[in-house]
Order: sequence, then structure tokens, then C-alpha cells
Amino acid sequence: MDTVSKFLTPGIVFLLTLGFGLWLSLAGRPYNGLLFNVHKLAALGAVILAGIQVYALMKGLSPQGWLTALTVIAVLCVLALFASGAFMSIGNLNYQAMLTIHRIALPLEFIAMAGIIALLAGKTL
Ligand code: HEM
Repeated sequence: MDTVSKFLTPGIVFLLTLGFGLWLSLAGRPYNGLLFNVHKLAALGAVILAGIQVYALMKGLSPQGWLTALTVIAVLCVLALFASGAFMSIGNLNYQAMLTIHRIALPLEFIAMAGIIALLAGKTL
């Protein structure tokens, strides 16, 4: 199986996460519990599935600049997405600031992951 197709399942689960995130957002607050949980669990699933593939493909490679930098960015974005999502649902921190973090971390995560996959594909094709 080539590198890009290994990310098909995490990619589909990521798209589901986006879809449920938008739906959750459109449904407004207080959040619909079912939409919130599906969004959160889909996010967790996408992260775990992508993490397993990245780990397997990186194993055995010596540390390299761009790949390491993009992986650090991707991990930080995931942490930002989970933390801002949790704080939005608890509602004890500035909502607008948390939503902005959620919206900025998302495209950054996407770009970092695309870069990681492109670099890994270049190494294993
Ligand atoms: C890979 C991880 C994630 C992605 C890609 C993602 C993506 C999204 C997207 C696209 C939206 C719609 C934002 C908008 O209206 O512009 C959203 C909303 C939301 N997400 Fe996530 N999300 C992720 C993880 C999480 C997690 C782990 C939680 C909870 C712990 C969470 C909680 C929320 C909440 C509460 C909203 C509604 C925000 C609002 O009030 O409009 N998200 N997410």
C-alpha cells in the first residue's frame, strides 16, 4: 500500500470531524450532547489513526529537520484543538478566544499533516 493511501481512513474520519464540528457550531449553544460527543470522538479517532500511521512510517528514519518540525507543529495543533474544544464546552474561559484558537489550529494542522504525508511519501515511494 502506498504512503498516501495509508492515510485514507484517518482522512475520512478527519472529514467526519469537520462535518460534525460545523454542524455542532451551526446548532449553537448550549451544545447538542450527541453532536458534541460524535465530534470529539471522531477527532480522537482521526488523531489516533493518523498517529499510528505516522509512527509506523517514521520508525527507523533518522531524525530530519522538516519532518520533525512539522510533527511538532501537528502535535501542538492537536493539543490546541482538544484544549480549546474542551474549554468551549466547559465555558469557563473566553469563548471567542477559544473559538479563534480552534479555527486557527485547524488549517495549521491540515497543512502540517499534508507536509508530513508528502515528506513520508517522498521517502518511501
Ligand atoms: C482534530 C480535531 C478537531 C477538528 C479538526 C475540529 C474541527 C472543528 C470545526 C471545523 C468546527 C466548526 C468551527 C466553526 O464554526 O468555524 C468545530 C467546532 C467545535 N469543536 Fe472541534 N475540532 C476538533 C476537535 C475538537 C475536540 C477534541 C473538541 C472537544 C473536546 C471540540 C469541540 C468543538 C466545539 C465545542 C465546537 C463548537 C464551536 C462553536 O461554538 O461554534 N473539537 N470543530
